[in-house]
Formats: sequence, C-alpha cells, structure tokens
Amino acid sequence: MFHRTKIRLVALNTVVFSIVLCTFGIILYLYMNHLVYANTDTKLYSIAKGIQQEGIDGIIREHDSKREAERKVVYLLWDESENFIKSIPENAVFSVDIADFSPSRFQDKKIWTQTIHKHVYRILKIHTDPFYLKESNTKSVRTIELVLNTDPEAALLQNLLKLIILGCVVGLNISFLAGLFLAKRSLVPIQQSWEKQTQFAADASHELRTPLSVIQTYLELLFRHPQYTIEQESVTIYKVLQEVKRMNKLVSDLLTLAKTDSNQLLIQRQQFPIGELASTIVHQFEPIAELRNISIIQDIESNLIYVGDKERIHQLLVILMDNSMKYNVEGGTIRVTCKKEGNFIMIIIEDTGIGISNEDLPHIFDRFYRSDKSRSRSEGGTGLGLSIAKWITEAHNGEIKIWSELHKKTRVSIKLPL
Ligand SMILES: Nc1ncnc2c1ncn2[C@@H]1O[C@H](COP(=O)(O)OP(=O)(O)OP(=O)(O)O)[C@@H](O)[C@H]1O
Ligand SMILES: [Mg+2]
Repeated sequence: MFHRTKIRLVALNTVVFSIVLCTFGIILYLYMNHLVYANTDTKLYSIAKGIQQEGIDGIIREHDSKREAERKVVYLLWDESENFIKSIPENAVFSVDIADFSPSRFQDKKIWTQTIHKHVYRILKIHTDPFYLKESNTKSVRTIELVLNTDPEAALLQNLLKLIILGCVVGLNISFLAGLFLAKRSLVPIQQSWEKQTQFAADASHELRTPLSVIQTYLELLFRHPQYTIEQESVTIYKVLQEVKRMNKLVSDLLTLAKTDSNQLLIQRQQFPIGELASTIVHQFEPIAELRNISIIQDIESNLIYVGDKERIHQLLVILMDNSMKYNVEGGTIRVTCKKEGNFIMIIIEDTGIGISNEDLPHIFDRFYRSDKSRSRSEGGTGLGLSIAKWITEAHNGEIKIWSELHKKTRVSIKLPL
C-alpha cells in the first residue's frame, strides 16, 4: 500500500516540478529572445525612419562612414514587381541567395527572422514612394529591405536554449531523486502510525475475544445442570458478571482512545479545587486499601484552584490510584501529594509495590502493554489506563513521568501548568 503511495507521490512531485521548470525555461527563453532582438529591431526601425525622412542617399553615406568593425546593415532594393535591383554595399549578398530574400516571401510581416544557408538575418521591409537610382534609371525602387546579420544573437539564443534544456533535464533528475527521498522520509511517520493503528485494532479484538470466550464457556457450564438454582450456580454467574464488567470497561476505554485519536474528545475547562478532588478520590479508595492492609498518606494542599476538565482529571487520578492499589503489596503504602510549585500543580502518587523493571518502563504508556499480563488480568486490567492518563495530561499541556524500582516502589508525577 505504501509502495504505491510512494510511487504516486514521486510521480506527482516530478510532474509538478517539471511543469514549473519548463514554464520557467520557456519564459526565460522568450524574454531573452525579446531582449536580444529588441536591440537589433530598434536599430533597423531607426534606419527605416531615417530613410523615410531623408531618403536613401543620406543613410548610405552615414552607413559608409561607420567603422569597419561595426556590424553594418545591408540594403536590398527591389522594384514594383519584386525584381532585385541592387544591394548596398554591392555584392553583400550572394546572387544565389537573392531569391530567399524576396520581399514577397513574408508579405504581411514588416520585420522577420530568416535563416539562409545557416546564417540568421533580421529583415525589415519598407515600402517607399517610387524613386530612381542615379546609376539605373530604368527601374524604380519600391521596396527596401534592411538586412542585419544576427548570427551572434542566434548563437547566444541557441546556447541559452541548450542550457535551459540541460537545466531542465538535470532539474528533473534531481527532483525525481529528491522526491523519492522526501516521499520515503515523509511516509515513515505515516507508516508507523498506520502500523500502530493496525496493531491497536488487532490487540483490541484480541482483548475483546478473551472475555467473550470466558463468558461463553461459563454460560455453557450453566446449561449442564439446568436443575441447579441460582444460588448453587452463583460462582459461575459471578464470574460471568466479572467478565461482562471487564468488557464494559475495555469498551469504554477503547472508545475514549478512539475519540482521542480522531480529536473528537475535547477538554472542557472549568475552575475547580484540585486538592479537594484528590482528597475525595483518596477517600473513595480507603475501604479497599483497608481490606488489603495498605495505608494511604495524604500530603494535599487545600485551596488549590486549577482550570481544567474536572471529569478528566478525576479519571486521571482514579487510573493512577487504581494502579498503585493494584500493583501494591500487603502492608504497603501509597503517598499522594498535590501541591503548587511555581506555576505548576504537582501531583505525585508513590507506592511501595511491585515496581516496574527497566525493560518495561519505556513501554508502560503503550496501549495494552502490561508488564505482568496474568497479574494485570486477574486484577481486571486491560493495559489502557496509562495511555489514557498520558492523553489527559498532555491535553492539559502537562507532563507525566514514572520512576520505579523493581520490587520496591513506583512514583508517578504529573506536572500541570496553571
Ligand atoms: N504503580 C505501578 N506499580 C507497578 N506496575 C505498574 C504501576 N502502574 C502501572 N504498572 C504497570 O504498567 C502496566 C500498564 O498500566 P495500565 O494502567 O496502563 O494498565 P493496567 O493497569 O494493566 O490496566 P487498566 O489500567 O487499563 O485497567 C500495568 O499492567 C503494570 O504492569
Ligand atoms: Mg491501570
């Protein structure tokens, strides 16, 4: 799937880049073409104007006085019926080429470029009132062509064109390679998150299947003794209920995570005393703690006002308290701290429980990750608690950290900006 996307991305990139490059090349060429010929055209037009004002003789005199090195305009004179009369200077054009300069060839254009035997000429055609040349009284001049050899300009433009084509080809190759590199790089996070999502779906269905098959087994067990009373089957029914509860929790956790993934879950901020909330939750856990002989120490500052989503902070504290209770040992302690530190609210929940090994610690926030699957499952855990806790903390722009020493203690700290 990603291979095809990559190819498509590279192709799209190359096509877009080639269009941009070609357009740029064409514009550059046309602009240079205009610039180069604008010079010669101005020169030709100014001569044409001179001819129309002063007649051809003055222009030719001026022409002859020009230095040898200067590029000279050649004048081709034609009569009414487009017969060649003469060229100035004489013999400037080979007689075999004369037909190619015939004014009838480009009737409508006043100025044009003509390539004749590999030489490029810029030609301006003007019609004048008929006049006779001193030396030939037979033919009257009707059309004058001003011819300027533009070989240097043509060579310049040709070189430019070659350069542009080369630039385009090199640019395309670079854009293809760069596109390939960029597509590879930009697809990596997408691929990773896709794999994560696929893994999540697979894990979720697996986790859902387990309680379902347990429920099925117990229900089938009930059918074996239809004559038994509910009281006699109470153990089996209790186990089914446990699994249903577990599934209920799992589904609601999954729903929460799915909503966070699609950014549907919003934080509803309100002012509330966070210390009191923490105390209430601790209070709720006290009966279970007593049963397990776990003591809870509170170090909670009262009158701490926090602006955040009360429901979510409640959920966060329950997840953490639940963990420190579940993964604690007989006679252990839990210490709950909630205080203000500078511009932050610090919530720390420490327990003297089983701890987390260094290998497990980096994965602890991963969905469905449990260091001891059998223990967590027997405690009703699904491995989603800390993923949700992380999301809640980050949604409040906070930070969650876990330190732990295996078989000794675990300390979860949450830093929430005020
Ligand atoms: N205080 C703790 N002490 C020791 N291990 C912990 C503690 N908190 C979490 N863990 C380990 O991290 C794992 C992930 O915790 P998490 O809360 O995400 O899932 P869970 O408790 O297994 O299930 P859930 O919270 O969804 O019911 C746990 O399975 C446990 O192995
Ligand atoms: Mg948990």
